[in-house]
Amino acid sequence: MSKAVANEESFAAIIVAAGSGTRFGRSKHDLELADMPLWRWSVDAFDEAGASEVVVVGDVPGGVPGGMRRRDSVRAGLDALTSGSPIVLIHDAARPLVGARLIGAVVAALTGTGVQGAIPGIPVTDTIKRRDGRHVLETVDRRDLVAVQTPQGFLTDALMDAHRAFPGDDATDDAALVELNGGSVVIVDGDRTNIKITFPCDLTIAEAILAEGSR
Ligand code: CTP
Ligand code: MG
Repeated sequence: MSKAVANEESFAAIIVAAGSGTRFGRSKHDLELADMPLWRWSVDAFDEAGASEVVVVGDVPGGVPGGMRRRDSVRAGLDALTSGSPIVLIHDAARPLVGARLIGAVVAALTGTGVQGAIPGIPVTDTIKRRDGRHVLETVDRRDLVAVQTPQGFLTDALMDAHRAFPGDDATDDAALVELNGGSVVIVDGDRTNIKITFPCDLTIAEAILAEGSR
């Protein structure tokens, strides 16, 4: 196993692979990309990057059972950690093209910087409008907006504290809970090829990215 980020602090990884895949049209837990299950791609990436342990959450071989909401699955993963690493990265199995560079950048942003969280973001390229039904209310200034990806990295204690402090709040990402709890979260440059498989056409795009060799 290579240690791409060996000089950084020890970090654990949780890969969430539960959920119902409503938008995809079926559960993604056994979905394959280039003949390998989606979640396996991420396990390999975190192993390659030198994670101290990789916990997979979901109905996959060796996985721990997931929860109703994404945040419940993350919590199940947190409860299954054993390595005691001070840093934990939470990653969606639905982003199989994650690479060691991005993992290293997230860990580096958390090491000795005094922040509680670091998340990848990419500038928004679409024009964004606020709506009321089919009526446009306004065009939002996108210059300050980023679309965020996973892996999202945290000081393990800060993420656990946020989960305990806000048990009822739902959140589409982990940073939202840490933000609610008053933690500081920074953005690192995301990776445009680190796409999320949400709809069936995303799988076609992922296959094209692989074929092109940019991952
Ligand atoms: N996830 C999870 N547990 C849940 C919901 C989601 O582990 N209860 C995981 C998914 O496996 C995925 C990631 O969180 O890797 C992002 O979720 P998403 O792409 O939204 O997957 P689903 O929730 O399954 O899809 P949908 O929202 O379309 O139902
Ligand atoms: Mg979902």
